[in-house]
Amino acid sequence: MKLLLLLALTSVLSGAAFGLDNGLMRTPPMGWLAWERFRCDIDCDNDPMNCISERLFTDMADWLVKDGWRDLGYVYVNIDDCWSSMERDKQGRLQADPKRFPSGIHKLARYMHDRGLKLGIYGDMGTLTCGGYPGTPLDKIELDAQTFADWEVDMLKYDGCYSNSSEQEKGYPLMSKALNATGRPIGYSCSWPAYQGGLPPKVNYTQLGEICNLWRNYGDIQDSWDSVLAIADWFFANQDTLAPAAGPGRWNDPDMLVVGDFGLSTDQSRSQMALWAIMAAPLFMSNDLRFISNDARAILQNKVVIAINQDPMGVQGRRIVKEKNGIEVFLRPLSNKASALVFFSRRNDMPYRYQTSLKKLNYTAGSYKLFEVYTNRATLLKDSTDFVVSVNPTGVVMFYVSAPADTNLRHFHSDGKLQGPSSYEGEDNSLPGVFL
Ligand SMILES: *[C@@H]1O[C@H](CO)[C@@H](O)[C@H](O)[C@H]1NC(C)=O
Ligand SMILES: *[C@@H]1O[C@H](CO)[C@@H](O)[C@H](O)[C@H]1NC(C)=O
Ligand SMILES: *[C@@H]1O[C@H](CO)[C@@H](O)[C@H](O)[C@H]1NC(C)=O
Ligand SMILES: *[C@@H]1O[C@H](CO)[C@@H](O)[C@H](O)[C@H]1NC(C)=O
Repeated sequence: MKLLLLLALTSVLSGAAFGLDNGLMRTPPMGWLAWERFRCDIDCDNDPMNCISERLFTDMADWLVKDGWRDLGYVYVNIDDCWSSMERDKQGRLQADPKRFPSGIHKLARYMHDRGLKLGIYGDMGTLTCGGYPGTPLDKIELDAQTFADWEVDMLKYDGCYSNSSEQEKGYPLMSKALNATGRPIGYSCSWPAYQGGLPPKVNYTQLGEICNLWRNYGDIQDSWDSVLAIADWFFANQDTLAPAAGPGRWNDPDMLVVGDFGLSTDQSRSQMALWAIMAAPLFMSNDLRFISNDARAILQNKVVIAINQDPMGVQGRRIVKEKNGIEVFLRPLSNKASALVFFSRRNDMPYRYQTSLKKLNYTAGSYKLFEVYTNRATLLKDSTDFVVSVNPTGVVMFYVSAPADTNLRHFHSDGKLQGPSSYEGEDNSLPGVFL
């Protein structure tokens, strides 16, 4: 299928299906989530900097503001498991652990709102959370939804440990209704499909899109390249089922970004960010913003990659080439007839020089501007012109490709702003270093 036809088709389709009607998350949500990096560390006596406590979340909030994250769109500060007391209060409501959250969740939400941030909280549809804290089973759903709304919480991740499939079938839609009934717009992340497993899917993605803003399809991410790769492989192997489910207000969630932690090299970090942008994935970092390296910060704050992730058309991209030599190509259609292209290498030997042309990738005839997002180089290219990308082992080369044959070509500059008309008038045969 030709790309432009594909573009027209996908916009018709995404116009036809509606997301959860709470007006939220028209582009994938961005922010910070505690789980992968900080888990269920509750040892505040011996590990006060890293334990799950209000200090951890106010620290992260301060850095989101100070280091420019918030202004790039990373606005959610999300609590995961292990925040609550082991006991509900006298009225049966959930309450925060009094020692670790002495000010309470409502004050914490105010802290976020005062800084232009949002607070997310965690619950579980079973009798217990995965970490063994009080769950929110069917008979507690309305009460807990109201408690979260009373606390002015902005998002809920609703996990699925200790519940069975018939309870989930009732509980996930019921929580959606209960959140709506509070009158407070609360972003809703459902872990339901991660507990349904398997393809062909028992998962009804049409229904998920109607009741949840995002959903965890697959297992938890870990701080390793193996984990990132396994998740990406699963999502692209199942792209024909998953991609049509995504759109404004309803997103597949391959789980947190682990860029800035310990497990990924610089190339692998660029790969995770690039593939998550192609997938229109929520961008929740789980790292320590107090001590993050400049390298990791630059990748996570790359304005062009963020703009690709946040494209308003909200079409989830796909893998379009899977070569036997370990090179894969991914494409995401973007608004203004632009697109994002990622060349990824699974190889482990040396940078691989991959030769292709836009024509081979089924772009329609014309001249295109290609902006290489991690090196800020741009060039003009005819669809028929062969070019070579040099892709590092486990790394990517990623392009923002502007609309074809437009004399007023708008393109990204390194500050991420769209500009036009083009000031870069390269010749086909004078392509810059990285990709020739
Ligand atoms: C609740 O649902 C209705 C109808 O779908 C919608 O119009 C309204 O904005 C929703 N309210 C909240 C707070 O999500
Ligand atoms: C799920 O658990 C409930 C008890 O909470 C039980 O009544 C029901 O039979 C269980 N369903 C399945 C499919 O295991
Ligand atoms: C999936 O959910 C949609 C919307 O709720 C519903 O109309 C449809 O019947 C469901 N499909 C199946 C196979 O249950
Ligand atoms: C390009 O289109 C042809 C014909 O429909 C198809 O066989 C091929 O797989 C496509 N290639 C890519 C990279 O999408």
